[in-house]
Amino acid sequence: MPARLIVHGGAWRIPPEEHADHLQGVEAAARAGWALLMEGASALDVVEKAVMLLEDDPTFDAGTGSVLNCLGEIEMDAIIMDGRTLEMGAVAAVQGIQNPVRLARLVLEDTDHNMLVGQGAHDFARLKGMRFTPAAALTVPREVKRFMAFQAQPPTKSAESFTAAASGGTVGAVALDNSGNIAVATSTGGTAFSLPGRVGDSPLVGSGAYADNETGGASLTGHGEKIMQVVLAKHATDLIRLGKSAQEAADASIAYLYQRVEGYGGLIVVDKFGGLGFAHNTPHMAVAWVDETGALHTYIAPPA
Ligand code: GLY
Repeated sequence: MPARLIVHGGAWRIPPEEHADHLQGVEAAARAGWALLMEGASALDVVEKAVMLLEDDPTFDAGTGSVLNCLGEIEMDAIIMDGRTLEMGAVAAVQGIQNPVRLARLVLEDTDHNMLVGQGAHDFARLKGMRFTPAAALTVPREVKRFMAFQAQPPTKSAESFTAAASGGTVGAVALDNSGNIAVATSTGGTAFSLPGRVGDSPLVGSGAYADNETGGASLTGHGEKIMQVVLAKHATDLIRLGKSAQEAADASIAYLYQRVEGYGGLIVVDKFGGLGFAHNTPHMAVAWVDETGALHTYIAPPA
C-alpha cells in the first residue's frame, strides 16, 4: 500500500498577511511527516509528529498561538486515533501543556481510558513526566490583541467567527502508512473569547477526528458546536464505506454540515485505497499533502 499524508492548519477567513505563514507551516509539517513515513514510521507516529510541529508553530490555534478564552486563558483539546484498532486518546480543556497531542497519545497508550479532561489530565501529564509550559510562553501578541478587541466588543454570533477574520486555525493530520494503517490527529485552542470549560468538536471521537482502516480517516476544523451536532468525521468515513472516494466524501460532508446545521468548516480525508481529499465552505483553508508521485502541494484558497 503506498503511503499517504495530508495536513491542515484551519479553515476560516485567514487574513492575507497571514497566508504565507500558514502555507509555510502546513508545508513544513507535511514535509517532516512524509520523511518519517518514507523511513517506515507508523501512521500513528506520523500524525503525532505532524500535529506537534503545527502546535509548536505560533501561526495556528493549537499549542503555542492558541486563542484566549473570555478570561484571557488558553484551554486546549486534542485527539489521536489508530484506525487499525480504533483505539484513541483525547484530552480536553488542558492548560500549560506544550503539546496536547502528545498527551492524547499517552492517554491512548498508557491508560485504559479514551479521554482525560481538566485536573485529571494535568495530574496524568505530571505523572508521565510531561513538562508544563507557562501560559505566557503559549500566548502570542496576535491573540492578546484579538482578546482585547473582543473585550471592547464581544462577538455576538459564534458562527460568524468562521467566516469573518476572528477565528483561528485548528490543526490536523491524516496518514496512511505502508502497512495500510490509517491514523488521524486533531489539536486546537478552541474558539476565541469562549466561556471557560468550553470544548468543541476537536477532541470528540467521530466529530473532530475519526480513523478506521476499513474506510479511511478524517480531521475537522471549523465551528465545533455545529460539527459535533452532525458527528462529521464519522459521517465522512461512513460515506467512504458507502463507496465514495476521499474527495467525494469531503465535498458531501461539508455540504451536509451547511445543509443540516448551517455550519462552517473544513476537513481533510484519506480513504483506505490511498485517495486524498479536502473541502471547506469558509473563505480559506490551509492544507498540504503529498501526491502519489511524492510531490508536496499546498493550498489556501480556491482559484480566483
Ligand atoms: N473546531 C475547533 C473548535 O470548535 O474548537
